[in-house]
Amino acid sequence: MKRILFVDDEPNVLNGLRRMLRPMCKEWVMEFAESGESALNVLAAAPFDVVVTDMRMPGMDGADLLAKVAELYPQTIRIVLSGQSSEESIFRCVGVAHQFLSKPCDAERLRRTISRACALRDSLSEATLQGLISQTVRLPSLPSAYLELLAELRSPESGVRKIAEIVSRDVGMTAKVLHLVNSAFFGMHQQVTDVERAVAILGMSTISGLVLSCKIFSQISLQTMQVFSIEALVKHSVEVGAMTRAIAATGGIKQPELDDCFSGGVLHDVGKLVLASNMPAQYLDAQAKAQTNQIPLWMVEREMFGATHAEVGAYLLGLWGLPDSVVEAVAYHHTPDRCIHKEFCLLTAVHVADILEQEANCTRQSVPRAILAKGYLHKIGVWDRLDEWRSICGIVERKAA
Ligand SMILES: [Fe+2]
Ligand SMILES: [Fe+2]
Repeated sequence: MKRILFVDDEPNVLNGLRRMLRPMCKEWVMEFAESGESALNVLAAAPFDVVVTDMRMPGMDGADLLAKVAELYPQTIRIVLSGQSSEESIFRCVGVAHQFLSKPCDAERLRRTISRACALRDSLSEATLQGLISQTVRLPSLPSAYLELLAELRSPESGVRKIAEIVSRDVGMTAKVLHLVNSAFFGMHQQVTDVERAVAILGMSTISGLVLSCKIFSQISLQTMQVFSIEALVKHSVEVGAMTRAIAATGGIKQPELDDCFSGGVLHDVGKLVLASNMPAQYLDAQAKAQTNQIPLWMVEREMFGATHAEVGAYLLGLWGLPDSVVEAVAYHHTPDRCIHKEFCLLTAVHVADILEQEANCTRQSVPRAILAKGYLHKIGVWDRLDEWRSICGIVERKAA
């Protein structure tokens, strides 16, 4: 049974939610609170899986409530359901909410959002990791990309294309921009995975405010830099993005799904950023163990942390509302045979691109590289296409160099 707490100062709204959701969500225990203060009392009495709150409330508002929830109950999923879509309200809750829904929100969308977030959390059994990911509101960026972005935003000639170009060269920035644009505040009816489109939708003024005032992006810390080469990760990720798109195009995936492919490739190892920036010393140990014992890093991660970077990344992106196809590709990129879909899809392209990029740049590797899932590729009938993909990826790589 999942426990969901709804918070709104208007009793009519709470009654509406109760009426709408009760018949369709029999597996939930729902509680309702009319203020931030009473919500905290309810939370103190028993743990909740999800808190869904209004933004504007007298006394403690939604952003303050969620900041408290993040501090006291880090594993609880935090969702804003607000009638306000002003820049100010976005800025207020950007650092504390996992998802933003706008009122009026249809019951099915609300049910789906909550159920999906709960299912993702259940897939990660480690409570420590659940808390750690839930507290991740920003991901570290490449220092050079961060400084370049700041300079561009302060320049009178800054434009959407240039900003998007900088963002798409960085894993952390790409993830955060897609998180924001897929929130209901921006009124998108379709999920967006193309960074240039995302920057255009958010608009230059919102992006400036988010970066300069809300500091949604951050440079990687010195401590993390000592254990982890973010340059190598970003270079690998961006090349995997380009290769994923090229491979996906040969499998008949067309626009707009091809946009998912580039972002899916760029984000496939985002879980490494979460692990390395939150637990640098342990991650250094994991890398050393992989190297000494010549075991793929993801296997060592599972043994040491109870989950791999693939599962950690998928949980974060799912919590941030990214499309299922991207979350699935990230989750299974090392174990594609575990995925229920047994046909050529984004996951196939990411899995193959990841390995072929490592084959092409094996000198960059300090830990044993992952291997192609031969059984899976045979099963979906694409094993004999590898030579074709190798030559396409060689062309993509030469172009990127
Ligand atoms: Fe990986
Ligand atoms: Fe990778």
